[in-house]
Amino acid sequence: MLSDADYRRPVRVAVVGVGNVGATFAYALLLGGIASEIVLIDANHAKAEGEAMDLNHTVPFTHSTRVWAGDFADCAGASVTVFAAGASQKPGETRLDLITKNAAIWRQIVPEVVKHNPDGILLIATNPVDALSYAAWKLSGLPAERVIGSGTILDTARFRYLLSQHFGVDARSIHAYIVGEHGDSEVPVWSLANIAGMRLPDFCKAQNLPHDQKAMDEIFPQTRDAAYRIIERKGSTYYAVAAGLMRITQAILRDQSTVLSVSSLIQDYYGISDVYLSLPTVIDRRGVENVLRLELSPDEIEKLRHSASMLKAVVGKLKL
Ligand SMILES: NC(=O)c1ccc[n+]([C@@H]2O[C@H](COP(=O)([O-])OP(=O)(O)OC[C@H]3O[C@@H](n4cnc5c(N)ncnc54)[C@H](O)[C@@H]3O)[C@@H](O)[C@H]2O)c1
Repeated sequence: MLSDADYRRPVRVAVVGVGNVGATFAYALLLGGIASEIVLIDANHAKAEGEAMDLNHTVPFTHSTRVWAGDFADCAGASVTVFAAGASQKPGETRLDLITKNAAIWRQIVPEVVKHNPDGILLIATNPVDALSYAAWKLSGLPAERVIGSGTILDTARFRYLLSQHFGVDARSIHAYIVGEHGDSEVPVWSLANIAGMRLPDFCKAQNLPHDQKAMDEIFPQTRDAAYRIIERKGSTYYAVAAGLMRITQAILRDQSTVLSVSSLIQDYYGISDVYLSLPTVIDRRGVENVLRLELSPDEIEKLRHSASMLKAVVGKLKL
């Protein structure tokens, strides 16, 4: 329960790892004007200092915000600490390939953050995000509702964007989710995808459009494999994930009870337990308020279970 004092102190957000993802998130946060303090922490302190200087020069055009390069002690009092530290995918590498390198970093940095800030929310972006969110939960000792992974918020955005291009409707008017792993075993929930409450085949019928199954069949692989295509071209992806991290942070700081597909601890969900993966989840000031129970098709349930078992095998190797 938050006290009056909690609500009165400046809203601090800490960013651990200010490479492409962390720095772009900090920029989005500054433009959004929802934090009064942003502290940047990186193993490369000079990089954090440079980013802080550049961001501070943005303040006269945006919102009064204190930005500085700090250390783990500055995580004290942060409402949200975003983790974007660690190695990123090289061309041809899967997200799961990163686990050994990034789990070693996790064993150092998660206890450091929690030592100084036992009351905040941890928001994980580093890949493989589901396994590292589970590891952050275990290593932090925090209640699971305060450890969240960005999960498939990005994949869901990619899916909605591609559907919007096909149907000629604003992506924000498309309601469709990617669930499961943020990665190769992720699952599109076609059975519940809708526009204005009409499932996609019904939408086509009502609008006198042909239901183009071939186009639908192409949209999911394009969604799932988007990161590979971007990495081949520009080396890494960061704008959309930063916007997704911003959206999650906003839902937390503004206590919005927003439904977002993020990674959280799943218990007793179609027989799936003790794993972090993404499902539509209500996010508010406390973090995860509720993971929504979806009526999935038998095929979707099977694919979700497969995704969960893949993730459990990866996390099992970490011996947490
Ligand atoms: N969840 C998603 O949807 C999503 C999307 C894109 C990228 N990512 C992931 O985000 C992570 C970061 O990607 P990036 O492109 O910003 O990488 P990057 O290499 O640009 O930045 C990583 C930063 O982490 C810092 N770092 C490394 N070890 C550290 C430590 N022990 N303490 C503090 N800082 C440390 C590095 O100095 C560097 O500045 C990667 O794992 C990437 O795969 C996730």
